[in-house]
Amino acid sequence: MSAQDTNSVVINPLEHPLVGATKVPGDKSISHRAVLFSAMAEGTSRLSGVLESEDVRSTIKAVQLLGAEVNLEVQVDGSLSGGITGWGSKGPKQPDVPIDCGNSGTTARLLMGALAPWPIEVQITGDDSLRKRPMRRITAPLMKMGVHFDPAGAETLPITETGDTDLKAIKYDAPMSSAQLKTAVLLAGLGANGVTTLNEPSPSRNHTELMLPEFGVSTTAAERTASVTGPFTLKASEISVPGDPSSAAFLICAAMIKEGSAIQVENVSLNTARIGFTRTLERMGADVSITHIGSSGKEPYGIISGCYTEQLRGCEIPADKIPSIVDEVPVLSLVAATASGITVFRGVTELRMKETDRIDAIIEGLGILGVEAWMNGDDLFVEGQPGLQIPEGLVLDSCKDHRMAMTWALAGLCLNTSVTVSNFDSVKVSYPEFLSTFERLMR
Ligand code: S3P
Repeated sequence: MSAQDTNSVVINPLEHPLVGATKVPGDKSISHRAVLFSAMAEGTSRLSGVLESEDVRSTIKAVQLLGAEVNLEVQVDGSLSGGITGWGSKGPKQPDVPIDCGNSGTTARLLMGALAPWPIEVQITGDDSLRKRPMRRITAPLMKMGVHFDPAGAETLPITETGDTDLKAIKYDAPMSSAQLKTAVLLAGLGANGVTTLNEPSPSRNHTELMLPEFGVSTTAAERTASVTGPFTLKASEISVPGDPSSAAFLICAAMIKEGSAIQVENVSLNTARIGFTRTLERMGADVSITHIGSSGKEPYGIISGCYTEQLRGCEIPADKIPSIVDEVPVLSLVAATASGITVFRGVTELRMKETDRIDAIIEGLGILGVEAWMNGDDLFVEGQPGLQIPEGLVLDSCKDHRMAMTWALAGLCLNTSVTVSNFDSVKVSYPEFLSTFERLMR
């Protein structure tokens, strides 16, 4: 692996199979919530295992601008630990500058919910990618509760939000499954009078419902519905963040492609809403297993093991399972590209709303690798090529999207020859030490 310039990186094939045990950095979704809920709470929360990455730094900067006192320090393992003293019942302070959420959709969308009950005027913005991503899905329910946005009908950032001290509790049927939307509505619900309920078409990740009780909130949550009763002020808590299964997915999928590999990822979240990729790999015939070790609050964690398996076969993933692999479809599509037969991911249009249009990025990148992939209606098809060999000198575009950068890096690491990945530094968003983990696992 060598840097060509600051943005393009040449990824060379691994010299040896991946063998042994490793850990991955803290879960990104849980880290954002741990920081934001601590900032909203009365008192000082203690956090450990928080992901040190650009996205989580965006949430930390945002809550600092709003008056939370953040004392997190980098530990020897690279994670962040320490205390956050929240604004509690006195509320966030009026920031004197716009809040720049960088590349982080989670920061922007969760923040909109947290700010909903407070009479301050906050401009929320982000980088070029975030300024293209849809926000009306969040502003629409919040406006129903009484929050003001300027421009009112805006689909994209920058948006100025002014909260309302007399928020109405609502019952909201979400048009799409999105944990960010669900969380924004529930956080706003904590400032409203009465019960706020959100129903979703299929279950999205449930970290908010699992973590809010740690901050004293009683939530009712079931398969496709979650409620909170307001008004309620969060109470400081202690949160230990397990490893990120979405980062682990890259290592496990690499083991599927690189012959002779056998790895274990330890201390990783085993939340079922997040480890759908293990089910998908099982359906492809892969040797993957999970071992429960314990739980951190209500979040289960343990070990995910994966061994190289000859002759993976294509499979079909139904639309209601897509939320449990929403961030893993790119890397699973690369595994599908090496399996026999066709893999179908049903109902994947939400992938068009991510850091880049991940459907277009997958189809284009696989096409460069010589693999057929196409959309039919809302479904993504990948026609696998067992023993896939790629020509030298391919350049794959990360589209400045961390998950595409890591997916294309895997092609260079695990196939027969080097590839160049453009804008590789986008991995800093969720997994800054991605390449060094591979170096450690290579024997
Ligand atoms: C996230 C939810 C998902 C996911 C994103 C993180 C979260 O987005 O893709 O990486 O932390 O709530 P959606 O809520 O838009 O599905």
